[in-house]
Amino acid sequence: MKKIAVFTSGGDAPGMNAAIRAVVRAGIYNNVEVVGIMRGYAGMVEGSFKPLVSKDVSNIIQHGGTILKTARSKEFMKASGRKKAYDNLVKEGIEGVVAIGGNGTFTGANIFENEYNIPFVGIPGTIDNDLYGTDYCIGYDTAINTVMQALDKIRDTASAHNRLFFVEVMGRDAGFLALRSGISGGAEGVLIPEVPTHLDELHLYLENKFKEKKSSGIIVVAEGEEEGGAYRIAKKVRKDFEDYDVRVTVLGHVQRGGSPTAFDRVSASKMGVEAVKTLIEGKSNVMIGTKCGQLELVPFEKAIKESKSINQKLYDLLTVLNV
Ligand code: F6P
Repeated sequence: MKKIAVFTSGGDAPGMNAAIRAVVRAGIYNNVEVVGIMRGYAGMVEGSFKPLVSKDVSNIIQHGGTILKTARSKEFMKASGRKKAYDNLVKEGIEGVVAIGGNGTFTGANIFENEYNIPFVGIPGTIDNDLYGTDYCIGYDTAINTVMQALDKIRDTASAHNRLFFVEVMGRDAGFLALRSGISGGAEGVLIPEVPTHLDELHLYLENKFKEKKSSGIIVVAEGEEEGGAYRIAKKVRKDFEDYDVRVTVLGHVQRGGSPTAFDRVSASKMGVEAVKTLIEGKSNVMIGTKCGQLELVPFEKAIKESKSINQKLYDLLTVLNV
């Protein structure tokens, strides 16, 4: 294998640049040329390629976002778009592709691989951490810390005003980010799609335990939560608890930025080097997952089709910690 490509796709995640850097350096180390594809699958369809040498990835490990940009591509989801992408890859002499992204990225890679004979290897990069077969996706640890720091700031003003805050965090249809960041921020409650939000349970808590012991608090709400998000839940609580001073904060895209944590930088570096090794070894259609600290290959089919369950023991901590 003498020439490979790398691209980032879907929602960006802090640490993607560390992964790009590792892919380029591993390519050089193995005498393999590396080409960057700009703007994910959209760039593959347009033929927007950029040769990457060592200096192109200097001084980027500390930056969030992605130097290769990212975009969602409707064109690639059409057979005609994938044919254009294939022709561009062949014309460029690309023999393998490293795809950094989430569910949508690997779904596209899986469809493409079933039609064409260019191998893809995936690196899980999404703050949602919702990919099956890996404990961690790049960006998840940084996003947890970003949310935790925001919760600490909100707690200052919540306690100053004796207010109850509903803080909405990202995660698409999953509650991994909400659960872990909520626990780290000492949240009095965490509402996630994986656990049906019985508003009556929340009401019971607010009626009894909260009232007798707390003058302020934070409830973290995952954006995919079934009740429809923080504003709708806060509206119901305001109606039922008129004496509570309720406010809402939606953290939004700040969760996607920031300098990646050491954990994300090291994970991304390990996965980037492993992805190049995996392509050189002739393997394909797999994601580099991490299980209990060990890297392992997970077929795209499984990564995108199986659903990852919430850590029930972690969730049960909330009951103990908010006794
Ligand atoms: O998948 C990452 C993510 O940040 C989700 O948590 C969120 O729902 C979505 O992307 C937002 O997408 P966009 O950046 O296109 O608004």
